[in-house]
Order: sequence, then structure tokens, then C-alpha cells
Amino acid sequence: MAVGKLLLFSLAVALTAYYFYDTETITPGMVRGKKVLVTGSSTGIGEQIAYKFSEMGAHVMLTARRAQRLQEVAKRCLQLGASSAQYVVSDMKNLTSAQHVAQEAIDKLGGVDYLVLNHVGGSGSFGYFQGDMKDVLSSITVNYLSYIQLTSTALKALQKSQGSIVIMSSMSENAVKKVGDKITMTASSKEDCAEEVVKAAVLRRPELFYPYWGIKPLVLIRDFAPTLMGNILDKFYVLENIQ
Ligand SMILES: NC(=O)c1ccc[n+]([C@@H]2O[C@H](COP(=O)([O-])OP(=O)(O)OC[C@H]3O[C@@H](n4cnc5c(N)ncnc54)[C@H](OP(=O)(O)O)[C@@H]3O)[C@@H](O)[C@H]2O)c1
Repeated sequence: MAVGKLLLFSLAVALTAYYFYDTETITPGMVRGKKVLVTGSSTGIGEQIAYKFSEMGAHVMLTARRAQRLQEVAKRCLQLGASSAQYVVSDMKNLTSAQHVAQEAIDKLGGVDYLVLNHVGGSGSFGYFQGDMKDVLSSITVNYLSYIQLTSTALKALQKSQGSIVIMSSMSENAVKKVGDKITMTASSKEDCAEEVVKAAVLRRPELFYPYWGIKPLVLIRDFAPTLMGNILDKFYVLENIQ
């Protein structure tokens, strides 16, 4: 009986270690020549994701609102080894423009292997809701509806290439900077984050939590003890600085 329990315990430890010990790696050969559309790639995590794909020889299509920044990022992508680097300027508030971005990527790259949905835009303020529905609609369009538009336009191309859709949700360096003294969270580096995102995408992992021990426990607590989760999150807000 005791031997059985010991065996069971050893098996559980071995399985846990196997689950958390990440042995898989990616090589440039797995990415070279792949066609990648990265939204929100003029700065932040999106920019770094474009660089990681470029280092491994992908064809990258960048998009955001600022042409000058996109031009600089495209130049850097080529220096890092991208097979090609192009950009299309777009404001994701406009769904026709979002559709155009996906179509442009398909036409210019000759298909899509990775659709990386990363742009995030908002009213710029972080505070209590003041009842302005214009901001709500704009935020939903940029951060949600445009994702659906891009995906549906690229769907056939993705099916053809057996490609992947990567959807980002993060509390990144820039996001933390933007909310300034209103929260006490710290962010991981965007470079490290981008590396893990690209690896997870290439290995076709269904989800990635990064850093794992900083995020996954919170997700589990949210599902099993939502009140506790609310109490934990409350500790991160500096209420006197939020208006
Ligand atoms: N920033 C936040 O407030 C916030 C909050 C929660 C979560 N996040 C997460 O952070 C990730 C991105 O963070 P980050 O630090 O890389 O943010 P960031 O540095 O602010 O980058 C956002 C990117 O989206 C683009 N963008 C913003 N509004 C756009 C619009 N209307 N149309 C087209 N492109 C637009 C920006 O480029 P242009 O300015 O050139 O258009 C930029 O390239 C997202 O995955 C999101 O899940 C961010």
C-alpha cells in the first residue's frame, strides 16, 4: 500500500516536472519564409514580436497609425534578417481599414501564416467611467471588433496555410507606464515577452502565460475564488490617484 502511494506520488511529481520543464525550442528553419502580419507593431510588444520573427527570416507586414515609426521598424526588421518587411498605415477604429490591412497582407505577402493581433487603443485616460459611450464604442471597435474583422478577412488564407492566430492580452511595460502612479504592478520586459510569444506561436501552443508563476495562479484563483481575486486586485490599485 505504502509502495503504491509512493509510486503515485513519484508519478505526480514527474508529470508536474515534465509539464513545467520547457524543453522545446524553435529554430530559424521553422520560421524562415513564413508570412507574418503583426498589428500594433510601431512600438511596444508588437514591435518586438516583429523583430523576433525577422531575426528568423520571416516576411513581415507591419501596421499601426504612425507611418514614420512603421518605416523605422521595417528598416530594423530588414537589418535583423527579415526576408521582407513592409507596412500599411491603418487606424483600427475604421473596420474598412482593418479589412484593407488583412487584404493588403495577403496580396503583398502572397498569404498569411501568422496573424498577430496585438494593437490596443483607448481613451488614453485610466479612471472611473464617466458615462461617455463614444469612448466605449471606440474602445470596443479598436480592441475587439477590428480583431474579428482582420481574422475573418484573413481566414481563408490562414486555412490554406494551416496558419495561426496569436491574440495578445498583456499588462506590458508601456501599458504599466501609461497608468503611471495608479497601480503598483510591475511589468516584464517587452523583449522577453515577445520572445516567449513567438516561441509559443511557432510551437502552436494553445495558450501562454508569461511569466507563468505571475499569471497562471491568478487565473486559477479568478476561476475558483473570484472574491479572493477581487481582493488581490484591489491591492494593486492606488485609489487616491484614480479620478
Ligand atoms: N496600452 C494599454 O493601455 C494596455 C492596457 C491593457 C493591455 N494592454 C496590452 O498591451 C499590449 C500592447 O501593449 P504595448 O505596451 O505594446 O502597447 P503600446 O506600446 O501602446 O502599443 C500599442 C500599439 O497599438 C497601436 N495602436 C494603438 N491604437 C491603434 C489604433 N486605433 N489603430 C491602429 N493601431 C493602434 C500603436 O501604434 P500607433 O500609435 O502608431 O497607432 C502601437 O503600435 C496589447 O497586447 C494589450 O493586450 C495594453
